[in-house]
Amino acid sequence: MSYSDVDDMGGHQDEYSDDDDGNLAIYRRREALINLLRCGHHIRTVPSNDKHGVSFDFDLTRPLQVGNRRWAQVWEAVTYDFDGDYQTLVVKLFIDSLFPTPESQGFDMAGTWTAARLRDSESWAYNALSDLQGGLLPVSGGFYEFDLGLGERACGHVMELIDGRRLERDWETFGQPQWHTLEASREREARMVKFMVMVSELHKRGVVHNDLKPSNVIVPDHDPGSFVFLDFAIAKSIQHPNFKNNREEDLLCMKTMHLEQPSV
Ligand SMILES: Nc1ncnc2c1ncn2[C@@H]1O[C@H](COP(=O)(O)OP(=O)(O)OP(=O)(O)O)[C@@H](O)[C@H]1O
Ligand SMILES: [Mg+2]
Repeated sequence: MSYSDVDDMGGHQDEYSDDDDGNLAIYRRREALINLLRCGHHIRTVPSNDKHGVSFDFDLTRPLQVGNRRWAQVWEAVTYDFDGDYQTLVVKLFIDSLFPTPESQGFDMAGTWTAARLRDSESWAYNALSDLQGGLLPVSGGFYEFDLGLGERACGHVMELIDGRRLERDWETFGQPQWHTLEASREREARMVKFMVMVSELHKRGVVHNDLKPSNVIVPDHDPGSFVFLDFAIAKSIQHPNFKNNREEDLLCMKTMHLEQPSV
């Protein structure tokens, strides 16, 4: 299967082009990596002492968000237990060499948003929010170093797959008469309040998500009135100097920071 075939399977991805950096070696390395990660590809965790020296095997089955110039390669994957029963999970791989380039991104985060840093932030946040896993955020299966094959390694987060849909603007009814009814507006208000209460649960545990946007929130099929937060890769402690003097109301008010990210 070629990389472009993966695109037909519903994953979100960027176009891959050879205009990056003009550096042939980097270009070839990225191309090799992209070709390596494909549906059906087998990856394995590198045994480490804190995981009792055990390796876990995964087959990548469906791209959720993959491609060049991505902060993470996110795959649905299956893993098998000793009885041969399988479990479907998400594997989020942080791979430095497939990160957005300053040219593609419009800003330079080189040396700041490294794979190790993003993994560490996500790991810290999942730890701080452990009692919310399985509710407001997916259950984490842990952080591992993966052997991708051909000598490539990457750090990755294994977590529960949330079936649902990304939070999206309702373009269908937006602007239509039914959008303006009192009932519809009350319903939206109630959902917004619920959303904010859920965000404040993160804050209560000392975590500012710091990258709240529709693609980082899922409305789960099992509870469409609820929200599940994803992507804590740039989450920060509420004690961080950026937030330290802010009142809770300020943190909740979608204040725009650098990069136009809401500080929620
Ligand atoms: N546990 C999960 N269950 C279901 N879908 C998921 C899960 N984790 C990630 N996804 C899907 O993969 C997408 C990308 O995941 P995530 O936001 O964690 O990666 P990212 O590379 O940091 O993304 P971006 O840079 O675009 O914010 C999400 O928008 C969502 O559609
Ligand atoms: Mg994201």
